Amino acid sequence: MTAAQRTAGLLEGWFPSAARPLPWRTNTHDPGQVRDAWGTLVAEVMLQQTQVSRVVPAWLAFMARFPTPGALARAQEEEALAAWSGLGYYRRARLLHAAALRIVAEHHGLTPTDPRALRALPGVGRYTAGAVASIAAGAPAAIVDGNVLRVLARLHARPGAAGWAPLVRWAWAQSERLVAAASRPGVCNEAIMELGATVCTPAAPACVRCPLAGQCRARALGAPERFPAPKARAARTDLHALALVLRDASGRVLCQRRAPGGLWGGLWQAATLESAAPIDDAGAHAWARMRGAGAGVRPLGGFVWLTTHRRVRFRVWGGAGVCCLRRRAAQSAASPAAPPTRWVSPAELAQLPMGSAQRRVFELAGVGAADPRPAAAQPRGPLP
Ligand code: ADE
Repeated sequence: MTAAQRTAGLLEGWFPSAARPLPWRTNTHDPGQVRDAWGTLVAEVMLQQTQVSRVVPAWLAFMARFPTPGALARAQEEEALAAWSGLGYYRRARLLHAAALRIVAEHHGLTPTDPRALRALPGVGRYTAGAVASIAAGAPAAIVDGNVLRVLARLHARPGAAGWAPLVRWAWAQSERLVAAASRPGVCNEAIMELGATVCTPAAPACVRCPLAGQCRARALGAPERFPAPKARAARTDLHALALVLRDASGRVLCQRRAPGGLWGGLWQAATLESAAPIDDAGAHAWARMRGAGAGVRPLGGFVWLTTHRRVRFRVWGGAGVCCLRRRAAQSAASPAAPPTRWVSPAELAQLPMGSAQRRVFELAGVGAADPRPAAAQPRGPLP
């Protein structure tokens, strides 16, 4: 028996009793059945950059609304964005919508399970293609994400930092070897991901619960958490955002849609001015009046929002909108060239596709409910 066969066998034996009962895993343990490929694709795309606890309710709601690629393809992109609410990285929703259109046009509405066909879909890279092909169809397709790379680097005590290209290439080769040796490649793949997520964690791995502890070289060296070495973080750029929450006499608030592409592209927000330099109170006041705020417009507070590449320092101002703005909103609704602007009720606001940062803007201004899902990675304090 080769080392890869032994490792694959241990992983496949461990998974059925250790797997978290996640909704997209319904058929995992039934050897006669494959998993629904569409549900698997949606789950894997959501899991790319979002924690499992946030993905579970979002996946259930998304699959209830779009149970097939056809259902998503028939919807407008905006509906896909709305269903993505709270997950962040909205580009994924746009790409999934484009993938659904392609599945309908080129695969009769059936999600492909061949790795090459999967990779031809918008937004599907080598990892997602390998995960869907192996989990939904049992194909011996490799997968490497952060969790898998960590397990493999520790198993072999392989030096190098997490994002270092030679280490990543090595991990893909190891994964290829593992799935080729596995009797159930999908189970083997999901097991190694699960092991990285729940046992072989970055800090304080629970080696006593690990099925691979006996072969783990990093553990034998006495320091599993030293593998892989930490990745050097790219510095974030600062961005200053002044968000203006305007209300009319009936309690509606003014919203505008961002241009497609770029940061929070295509999502709705309060009127927001962004600048690389801080905006002082006089400048904020002048801009707010220009955007149609009444004389009583005032600062309401602020917070810092972290994205992968930016530290966005939000300041929130609020007040009553003067009536000329209603005309402007009505005009922009009639003219496709103008940035779309709408007065919406708090109930409508909750349905608009909007990033969590802008939900927090409205929350700070006392409008509508905040995103019910916790924004775990965001600091909640005041503006420093
Ligand atoms: N991370 C991404 N996909 C996963 C899966 N299918 N199981 C466990 N963790 C994952």
